[in-house]
Amino acid sequence: MSEKLLPYPLDRPIGIFDSGVGGLTVLKALRRKLPHRDFVYLGDTARVPYGRKPAAMVAEFAYGITEFLRQIGVEGVVIACNTASASALPELAGHFSIPIWGVIEPGVEAAARLTRTGRVGVIGTKGTIASGAYQRRLERRGLTVWAQDCPMLVHIVEEGLAGSPECDLLLHHYLDGRAAIDTLILGCTHYPLLHDAIQRVVGDSVTLVDSAESLAQAVNGSMGADPPAAAPGRIVHFVTGDPLAFAHTSEVIGEVAGEVVPLPVTELIRLQSR
Ligand code: DGL
Repeated sequence: MSEKLLPYPLDRPIGIFDSGVGGLTVLKALRRKLPHRDFVYLGDTARVPYGRKPAAMVAEFAYGITEFLRQIGVEGVVIACNTASASALPELAGHFSIPIWGVIEPGVEAAARLTRTGRVGVIGTKGTIASGAYQRRLERRGLTVWAQDCPMLVHIVEEGLAGSPECDLLLHHYLDGRAAIDTLILGCTHYPLLHDAIQRVVGDSVTLVDSAESLAQAVNGSMGADPPAAAPGRIVHFVTGDPLAFAHTSEVIGEVAGEVVPLPVTELIRLQSR
């Protein structure tokens, strides 16, 4: 049982996963809403990026990770990754009996609420943009959509290069040709870590949407009250790649640091076969 891999027992934790550090932005928003909840975060940094991989492969990864988290004993799973939400959410929700939340619908809802002109942009990985998951949902609401994949931005974040001249060059490359939009969805959980740089490039007339807040609201609503406790909830991070680099980033992000447990990716691959 994967439960034995926990460094200490947790109380009714919520599971959350991403290909890397991006999902920590979602964890931070969740922690603000549920400060006494325990969380198990899984950063699949050995296999990042998900955004360049075939959708079926990402769906397999997501299945193995969800099964791992289920065996740990989580009460629900947040897919803090747009690429995996786009390729795996309906199937996972149909297969597992615990609640599973994705990040796409909350981002669409927030953008539809915020736009004044009805012209919305979305940026994400190649996988997310090619899936059309955002475009379909936004267009169904009568909105006009501009979509752009930005595959290099995940590497910028994972390598700690946010704020570098290289980061700015890439943002101009991806964003300067945008259509007239007043709202831009950050359709990759890595991008909130580039929030200020993106805002500088698109200007103050464009509202940036990070789905983490709306998602945290939804999770909070369906998990019921935060457990009454004086102490803050604990976080255990399982990381398939370099644990030191991960621990450093989680410290820098703030409010999401916790015990980091290295996890051989073979543990997850074993659970992928259905
Ligand atoms: N942060 C993820 C997302 O929201 C995945 C990025 C990647 O691994 O390519 O799509």
